[in-house]
Order: sequence, then structure tokens, then C-alpha cells
Amino acid sequence: MKGFVFTEFLEMVEDQFGFDIADKIIKPTDLPSKGVYTSIGTYDHAEIVALVSNLSTETGIPISKLLHHYGKYLFGVFEQNYKVFFKGVTSAFDFLEGIDSYIHTEVKKLYPQAELPKFDTTRKGNELKMHYQSSRKMSDFAIGLIEACMEYFGEHFTLEKEILDQEGASVLIKIQKLEVSELSPVSLEKTA
Ligand code: HEM
Repeated sequence: MKGFVFTEFLEMVEDQFGFDIADKIIKPTDLPSKGVYTSIGTYDHAEIVALVSNLSTETGIPISKLLHHYGKYLFGVFEQNYKVFFKGVTSAFDFLEGIDSYIHTEVKKLYPQAELPKFDTTRKGNELKMHYQSSRKMSDFAIGLIEACMEYFGEHFTLEKEILDQEGASVLIKIQKLEVSELSPVSLEKTA
């Protein structure tokens, strides 16, 4: 897995959980890299799993919540550092439909060792279905990224997740865009 996934993760942990916790989750004996990452390096996917799992032990926050939170955080980094992928894109659904066919395709050209998920998408009116498939089982991370993307484009939405296999390697993510007239007074209050 690319180094920036690690460096950004540790930066988020330092910022939001503090240096002590960041130090504690790096247990060099568990980590072949000894917890030293550079953004251009490539590291075993098992190391990010170990770091997230250690963070969960330290904070008591479930792994799924931490992955979701990190997905949301990382979208903000993409927005800043990969502006090229946002150029000319005017809606969240257009952006999300382009992950497989454009964004991750370009990522793979740049970093042939990158291990990327597969997303099959179907759009019908205000609904986009994204079928996530990956042996890395990071659908919660994907959902964090997707929610941040919807928010970036100013969309109101509901999102449902259906795990299609035992392990979470195949997950259907259904996103429903809401028109302003469909919003409840409570959600309108939140956005005011
Ligand atoms: C909402 C938009 C996006 C979604 C939902 C998404 C989803 C994912 C997921 C779930 C993974 C984890 C690997 C896996 O599950 O197999 C991943 C990895 C990755 N994505 Fe994306 N992604 C998005 C946007 C981007 C953008 C804009 C970039 C631009 C640089 C990018 C670059 C990468 C890279 C480099 C990896 C790591 C692959 C590796 O290190 O082996 N993604 N993405």
C-alpha cells in the first residue's frame, strides 16, 4: 500500500488523538517497516490494518468507525493535493463514477504496485449503486471517502451498505440523492 496512506493516517492520529497515542500505536515489533514511512514508499497492507487495530485498542473506538473517519479525512487531502481529478467535474455522482475508469486507472499508471478496489457502478435517476470489491475489505474507508465527496459537492443524501459476502470483500453501497423538498425539518435545521 502506498506510503501516503500511512503518512496521512499518522498525521491524522497526531492531530486528532495526540502524539502519545500516535507513539503508542507504532509497535515496531509488529511492523516490518518499524513504523517508518515515506509518502513515496510502498508497504504491506497488513501494516495499516495493524495501526488501525492498535488505535482501536488505545481509544476504544471500533475499527470500522476509525476507517470511516480516516476515509472522510483523506478526502480533504485529495481535494488539496490532487486537484487534477476535480477539474471539470460538477457533481458527486460524476466524480464517483470516474473512480474506476479514471482516477484509480491513473493511480495505477503512476504506481503499478498500487492495490486498488473494483467499483461497478449503476446510476438510475437520483440513485447510484456502487459495488465495492476488494480483498482488502476496506468498504468502511470507501464509505468515508464517498460521504466526504457527496458533502464536497453540496449534496444531501442517504447511504446504505449491504455486505454481500461473509467477509466484507464484496459490498453494495447505495447512495440516494435527496431533493430539498425531501429533507425533513430536522435535516434542514442542520444545514441552516
Ligand atoms: C471518493 C473517491 C474515492 C474512493 C471511494 C476511493 C476508494 C479507495 C479504497 C476503498 C481504497 C483502499 C484499497 C482497497 O479497498 O482495495 C483506495 C486506495 C487508494 N486510492 Fe482511492 N478512492 C477514491 C479517490 C481516490 C483519489 C482522488 C485518489 C488520488 C490519488 C486515490 C488514490 C488511491 C491510492 C493511491 C490508493 C492506495 C492503493 C495502494 O496503496 O495500494 N483514490 N481507494
